[in-house]
This record gives sequence, structure tokens and C-alpha cells, in this order.
Amino acid sequence: MADPRTEAARRRTFAIISHPDAGKTTLTEKFLLYGGALGKEAGAVKAREGRRSATSDWMEMEQQRGISITSTVLQFDYRDCVVNLLDTPGHRDFSEDTYRVLAAADAAVMVLDAAKGIEPQTLKLFEVCREREIPFLTFVNKWDRPGKAPLELLDEIEETLVVEPTPLTWPVGIPGDFRGVIHRGTGAYTRFERTARGSTIAPEEEVSADEAASVEGESWTDANEEVELLDELGRNVDVKTFLAGESTPVFFGSALTNFGVRFLLDGVVDLVPAPAPRQLADGTRRALDAPFSGLVFKVQAGMDKAHRDRIAFVRVCSGRFERGITAVAERTGRQFSTKYAQTMFGQDRDTVEEAYPGDVLGLVNANDLRVGDAVYVGEPASFPSLPAFAPEHFMRARVTDTSKFKQFRKGVAQLDEEGAIQVLRDADLGDQAPILAAVGLLQFEVATHRLENEFGAPIELSPTPFTIARRTDDESASRLNAMQGVSVLSRDDGTRLALFESKYWMDRVLSDHPELTLDRMVAEGGLN
Ligand code: G4P
Repeated sequence: MADPRTEAARRRTFAIISHPDAGKTTLTEKFLLYGGALGKEAGAVKAREGRRSATSDWMEMEQQRGISITSTVLQFDYRDCVVNLLDTPGHRDFSEDTYRVLAAADAAVMVLDAAKGIEPQTLKLFEVCREREIPFLTFVNKWDRPGKAPLELLDEIEETLVVEPTPLTWPVGIPGDFRGVIHRGTGAYTRFERTARGSTIAPEEEVSADEAASVEGESWTDANEEVELLDELGRNVDVKTFLAGESTPVFFGSALTNFGVRFLLDGVVDLVPAPAPRQLADGTRRALDAPFSGLVFKVQAGMDKAHRDRIAFVRVCSGRFERGITAVAERTGRQFSTKYAQTMFGQDRDTVEEAYPGDVLGLVNANDLRVGDAVYVGEPASFPSLPAFAPEHFMRARVTDTSKFKQFRKGVAQLDEEGAIQVLRDADLGDQAPILAAVGLLQFEVATHRLENEFGAPIELSPTPFTIARRTDDESASRLNAMQGVSVLSRDDGTRLALFESKYWMDRVLSDHPELTLDRMVAEGGLN
């Protein structure tokens, strides 16, 4: 039987974050290609189509919209490591799930479009990484197309994110005329060759400096001058500051043509920290070889139309998980069977027999579990609550057919419990017309669809005047409620949210009454 510490040491668990269209899906496929999980050839393009249709059609809505709402977990071997890639959905809209996935990751890869640099959603996701103290690597993608100059991109990272960019590879050839990269660790120059749409691993050739100088000409001289500048500025990968989130190793490449993908994957294996003993709510850490414990970071219902089941995604934090063991759900103290533990590859589910720290399990029909909960064997475990951003969109929901009110109430409660959407109530309207609150607009579509199709309660959403929310406490709540343009609503778990009609108004309230509690972060899950 393998030692959980040895197995943990070879796990690399990370998520890719990016603005839609920066190339996350493409890069994910290329990781699988290089990880050997797609076979040697071509799988890539097909897999992409496959992922869009076959693996995400569990919901009619997804089919209609042609988007993937589910986040999946992909596992593959690379070198002597087991890589767990937590795939956040690539749609245009945010959802809380995207944030939650980061709670299960030990690091992130931030993908930037070379022509666009840091875009709004990248910035938001980056803020979550910072809040959760997750180190990140940066991949500048689409270098095969015209884009910004590399030094300009570095400045942008530094100024916008206040993080020191430390390139590990440096591109030779301007964006649009990408030849290869200089590896700053070894000094070697690697030339790439194109393959059709990158459906096979890109042939690479290590070229000596002399040959490079004669073949690449000016591009070579320019790249070397830039590398010298970086050396002078001391922009070298530094593991300590990387782990502290103060610097980010940068890689240049093109996911489409596979250029630079291998270097990035090597960077993941070399730099992403292996799972460490996870901090518990009481401030101590649970040893990696302690009995099994895991963190629920996402709960998803309705993945299988035939069963309408509910899957809790659990990141293993300690010990060896073995299918069939009886674990305890922290929230209820109840025992449950793990006979139906699964791994997910898109929609394909495989029964998982064993798992180690860093791996992700899907526990089917684990109805007691909510986001932030712990599951464990032996000594109880409880994790600190996960920091989450306050919602940003608010709609009032009413059932259109009043005879379906019971179903509506049940459905809304269930969606709230799952964390699919937040349900806010005010004392006057209560359950009749709660406000649904979300981080991304897509969550409303999902909620509407599910209430109608799963619970038989069609709803109508109407806009509210609110645009921003902050967490508050009981004492501030009564004062805020008495003010104009502010409304304090409650969640089922007792969290109080103050809703404002504009940021301007909120800032004014805060500057007039700095003593009020108005917090951007809301705790999610956990018992504290
Ligand atoms: P996302 O998951 O981050 O949303 O991005 P995705 O991988 O779907 O990529 C978005 C678009 O950018 C796709 O084009 C994809 O082919 C393209 N792309 C990704 N990486 C690169 C790259 O390195 N170079 C270039 N030139 N393009 C890249 P599309 O037209 O939307 O889709 P498709 O018709 O190519 O499938």
C-alpha cells in the first residue's frame, strides 16, 4: 500500500484561469496531448469538439447554448508526477463555481492572450488567487499572432497585478513570427516547427547559439538583448517569492501550434507545490498521512438526467481514500458510504478505487455535503471557511403559477444549499419573492432552468435596483436598513448582506459612517 506522503509528493493540482477566448480550452487539450491522455495524435481537435458536445450535454441548456457549465477534473501522468487539472468552465460568464474550484487547487496557470494582456475576468480570478494565497504561473498565449511586445506585457503584469513577472522562457521572433524560445534556466534555444493545427506534439530542435544567430538573424539579437536586460534586472524565477504570490514565472507560447506547451507543463511539474498538510479551522494542520479527510469545494446536481443525482466534488487533503470506506460528513456528523466514488473526465465517469492528497473525487448522492464542508475518517476535521466575493447581480424571483409555490420554495432552498445561487430574503416579502443573488449572470439562467425542469416551478425574474453588496453584521444592519438606497437582506445561514443601488452611494455611506461593517468578502461554508 502506497504511503500518502510519497503519493502526495508526486501530485500537482492546479487550475487554469483566463478570460474567455484566451485559449484555456485549447491549452487544456494540449496538456492532455503532452500528458499522453489523448493518444499520440490528433485527438486534440476531436477532443475539443467532443468536449463541447459529448461531455457537457448533461443539461439541455448547455446544448442550447453550446457552452460548458460543468467544471471537470482531468488527471494524467506526466514525467513521474500525477497531474490533476481542475478545469474551470470556459464560458463568457462567471459563476461561483469558478471561484470555488480555486479552493481545491495548489496553484493556477493564468493564460493571457498576447494581443490583449490582462482582461477583466483574468483580473478578478487573479484577485481570488491572491485572497486564497494561491501561487500562479503565467502563460502568454497566441504568440503565433500579432500581439503586444513581450516587455510591454511584463510591465502590464507588474503594474496591474503588482506581482513581479519572472520569465522562464523568452520568445525569439515577434508575435506573429514565432520561431522558438530561449530557456532562461539552461540558456538553450529551442526552435519549434508547426504541425497542422497542433494536432500532434510540435517537433522541437535545440539549436546552438551560432546557428541560431545565423538562421534567426535580427530576432535572435533582439531576444538576446532582452534576456540580458532581464538578467540585469534580476528577473529570475524565484521559488520563494512565487510561492508567496509575489512573483510569477512567465512562459511564452502558442497553444494552437503547441509551441511552448511542453515548457509550461515542465514548469507546472517543477514549480507547482505538491499538496501540503491542510490547515484546519483550529489553526493546526492535518498531517498528509493522517486518516482520510477531504474538502467539499463544489456540489453539482442534475448531471445525469436519468438519476437527477447530486455530486459533491471533494479534494483529498490527507490519507489514502479507498472506495467503500465509511466517512463522516462534518456538518451533520452522519456516516456515509463511499461506494459510489467517481473520478470525472468530462461526462465520462470512472469508479475511483483509491485517491491521495491532491486528487479529486466525485461523491454521488452525498446529500449531506455542502461547499466548504469536511469529510473524514477517524479524528474529526473541520476546515476554515472559504473566502468568497459578495454577489454582484440581484434579481427578484416569483413563481409564475402560484399553485407551484411549494415546489418553488423547495427548489430555491435546494439551489441555495448547493450554492448554485444565493437566496436573500427580506423580512416583509420572505419566501414569496426572494432576491436571487449571483456572481455571474449565467447563474440566473441555470437557476431558472432548474427550477422549471427539475422542480416544476417556472419563475419570473424581475430586476432590482441593487448593483453591489457587502457583508455586514447585526449591529450595522439595523442602522443601514434605516438609510435610503440600502436594503439589508439575510441568507439562510444568517449571513447579512447590505445591498446598495450604486457603488457611489455605498462609498458615501461608508465615508459618512466609517464605523459600519461592510465587508467585500463573505465566508462560504465551514461551520464558523
Ligand atoms: P477559452 O477556452 O479560453 O475560451 O479559449 P479557447 O481555447 O476556446 O480558444 C479561443 C479561440 O482562440 C479559439 O478559436 C482557439 O482556436 C483560439 N486559440 C487558442 N489558442 C491559440 C493560439 O495559441 N493561437 C491562435 N492563433 N489561436 C488560438 P475559435 O475560432 O473560437 O475556435 P476554433 O474555430 O479555432 O475551434
